[in-house]
Amino acid sequence: MTTTTDIPELVTRPEVAALRRDFAILRQRVYGHPLAYLDNAATTQKPDIVIDRIHSFYATKNSNVHRGVHYLSQQATDAYEGVRALAAAYIGATPDEIVFTSGTTESINLVASGIEKRLTADDEVIVTALEHHSNIVPWQMACERSGATLRVVPVSDDGVLDLEAYSRLLSTKTRIVAVGHTSNAIGTVNPIAQIVQLAHDVDALVLVDAAQAFAHGPVNVSELGADFVCFSGHKMFGPTGVGVLYGRLSVLESLPPYQGGGDMIETVSFSGTTYASLPHRLEAGTPNIAGVLGLGAAIEYMSRLNWTHVREHEMRLLKIATEQVRAIRGVTVVGESPDKAPVLSFVYDRAHPYDVGTVLDRMGVAVRTGHHCAMPLMERFDLPGTVRASFAFYNNEADIEALEAGMRKVQSLFA
Ligand code: ALA
Repeated sequence: MTTTTDIPELVTRPEVAALRRDFAILRQRVYGHPLAYLDNAATTQKPDIVIDRIHSFYATKNSNVHRGVHYLSQQATDAYEGVRALAAAYIGATPDEIVFTSGTTESINLVASGIEKRLTADDEVIVTALEHHSNIVPWQMACERSGATLRVVPVSDDGVLDLEAYSRLLSTKTRIVAVGHTSNAIGTVNPIAQIVQLAHDVDALVLVDAAQAFAHGPVNVSELGADFVCFSGHKMFGPTGVGVLYGRLSVLESLPPYQGGGDMIETVSFSGTTYASLPHRLEAGTPNIAGVLGLGAAIEYMSRLNWTHVREHEMRLLKIATEQVRAIRGVTVVGESPDKAPVLSFVYDRAHPYDVGTVLDRMGVAVRTGHHCAMPLMERFDLPGTVRASFAFYNNEADIEALEAGMRKVQSLFA
C-alpha cells in the first residue's frame, strides 16, 4: 500500500504549510480533532485576502456602481470594472465577454433561456451523463418549452465520456452541447477542446460548465474554443453568490436580455426600451459588488500560485488517498478516468454513504455524501450516492491520514 512517504513531495511541506496560514478556518478543531476539510468540490475555503477585501469594501467604499457621480460610487465602479478586466485577462477573454452572475447555475440558466427562444421541435440539445443538475435541468426546461429533444452522451464504467457515441449523436439538428469541464461527483476531466471541435463541425454551440475546474488551475477560454464558459466564485476560493458567464462576443451579442431592470438599459419609455451594450445588457439590477471584489481578490491570490506544483501536489494526495481507501475491504472507488481532478468518490458495502460521512465528521473529516446533484450519474452506476473526498492545494498529508483513520473507524463500527 502507498503511504505518504513513498511518493516524492513536489509542493514542499513548508510551501503548503505557508499557504494554509492564509486560511484561518483551517486552524479550527471539530469535535476535538483538527479540521480535515475534504469538501472542496462543494465549496472551497477563502483566504484572508478575500475576506479582507469584502470587509474593506463595506468599511470604506460601499456605494452603488454605474450610478453616482460621487467619489465613493466612482471608487466602487472602478473596483468592480477592474475585476471584470482582471477576470477577462485571467481566462484569456476581453472584458466585454465577461458577465457577472450569481454563479454557474445562473450563468447556465441565462444561456439556456436565450437559446430556448430559437429552439424548434426539430432541434436537439446534447448534455452528458456526467452533468451536475444545473447543467441538465435548465436544458430540460428549454426543451420542454420549445419541443426540442434532449440527447445524452453516455459514460463508461470508468466514468469516461463515450466520444464515439457523442459523435453519433451530433448532427445538423444539434443546436448546443452543454458539457462539464470536470465532474463534481467523480472528478472526470473531459477532453473539452475535442468535444468543442466536433460540435463546431456541425455548427453547434458549446457551453462548458467549468465550476469544478478553476480550483485546480487557470482555464484559458481560447484554448478550449467554447462559446460559453461558466464558473462560480465560491469554488475558486472566492465568495458565494457571484460567478462569471464568459461568452464569445459574437455569440453573446445574439442572446436576448435575461432579466429586465436597472443598469441593463440605454433608454426607457412607455413606447419602448432600448438596451445597454454588452456586458451590461445581461446584468440587470444592482450586482453583488462585494462578491465581485472578493472574486477579484481570489483571482489575485490564484495568480500567485505555482499551478504546476499545485497539480503535482493534488495528484499525489489523490493517489495516496485512493490507494489507502481502496485498501479497506468493501470499498469501491467510483470514477477512474485517467484524466481526473483530485476528487475521490467511493462506496463502502457495509454502510450507507450518509453513515460513513457521519462517522468521518465526528473525527473532524468533512466530506460530502449523497448524489452530489448528479442523480442521473448515480443511476448510471446503480448507486444511491457516494462518499466524496475532494482536495484543494491547502490539503496535506495529515488530512489524508485523518480520512484513512476515519475509514478504519467506519470499518470497525460496521464490520
Ligand atoms: N456542486 C457542489 C458539489 O458538488 C455543491 O458539492
